Amino acid sequence: MKKKVVSVLVAAMTVVSLAACGNSGSGDTPTAADTPASADTKTADTPAPADTPTENSEDTPAASGETISVGFAQVGHESDWRAANTKNYQDTFSAANGYELSFVDCDNDHAVQIETVRSFIEQELDYICIAPIQSAGWDTVLQEAKDAGIPVLIVDRAVDADASLYTTALGCDMVAEGETAGNWLAEYLNGADANILVIEGSVGASATLGRTEGFNNIVAKNSNWKVLDSQSGDFTQAGGQEVMESFIKSYSDFNVVVCQNDNEAYGAMDAMDAAGITYGVDGDVTIISFDATHNGLQYTLDGKITCNVECNPLQAGFAEGVIQKLQAGEAVDAWTLVVDEAFVAPGITSSYAITMSQEVLDGRAY
Ligand code: AHR
Repeated sequence: MKKKVVSVLVAAMTVVSLAACGNSGSGDTPTAADTPASADTKTADTPAPADTPTENSEDTPAASGETISVGFAQVGHESDWRAANTKNYQDTFSAANGYELSFVDCDNDHAVQIETVRSFIEQELDYICIAPIQSAGWDTVLQEAKDAGIPVLIVDRAVDADASLYTTALGCDMVAEGETAGNWLAEYLNGADANILVIEGSVGASATLGRTEGFNNIVAKNSNWKVLDSQSGDFTQAGGQEVMESFIKSYSDFNVVVCQNDNEAYGAMDAMDAAGITYGVDGDVTIISFDATHNGLQYTLDGKITCNVECNPLQAGFAEGVIQKLQAGEAVDAWTLVVDEAFVAPGITSSYAITMSQEVLDGRAY
């Protein structure tokens, strides 16, 4: 369903915007800034069920049996997390569920991602989901989508753009994830010194910026901690290995390695294995990772990655919940927080993390 649906949506959304905000409804599409002030933040730890269409529903594509077209400009395929996230979107926005998903793997290239969004606008898709590779550089294309009357959902990562330019955003709190890692480390070290190496994610990604900021917030509170170096491993296993190999050549006195995702941690472990450096609960180096994928948590259960901070990739249900609300002419939250947990190796108890067990691992689907 293309152009015709867009104009139906615009009409429905303008009514919602007027009712909710009491303003003159100047925008063509509902935006994050248009949503009710009292509901600007929503916390959810399970995908929101799709709402049943209400009185406006007879006008919508779903109600009329027409498919809803959704464009998804995905970051790429850099990590296991990303693969799980992609599968979750493809499963959720399936033909069987009434959707036509235009999925594009943007291969971690910002220019490709911008052009992908532009092509979705030209195709007059009903909705656009963007998982932004980098947080900067979005104003122009978001304005183009808004001018075209196409609702935009910013998913997983954040953008540095005025909230009036998009409809809603959803994802994990990356700053909080970094702070959890730091707080856990302070608790674990119990006053001991830390010489820390950080393998960051992709440059300019909000996941990288947030986790770095959050962790550094805790570093600042521990005067006997020193960050020796911090370099991008691009959220890949090869990148993590390459950065760790270079760190090993330059530093001999580190006792903590922070990897901003599980794949980087696998690469860092390969580099340390090759150099004869021991790590984990019984080794010389403590590894902290992010994502808490199934394989990452296996390493935590094995005591190799001592702390693993979750970033939940199963977010498509939240996006579908937003789209179903818009289909029904309902207001949507400006921001939906996907809640994370953290996990630590067996034998460690923490006020910031769950102690790993086989049962926890068995319950991890991705
Ligand atoms: O934006 C989420 C991050 O992107 C995940 O931590 C990482 O694995 C992915 O590449």
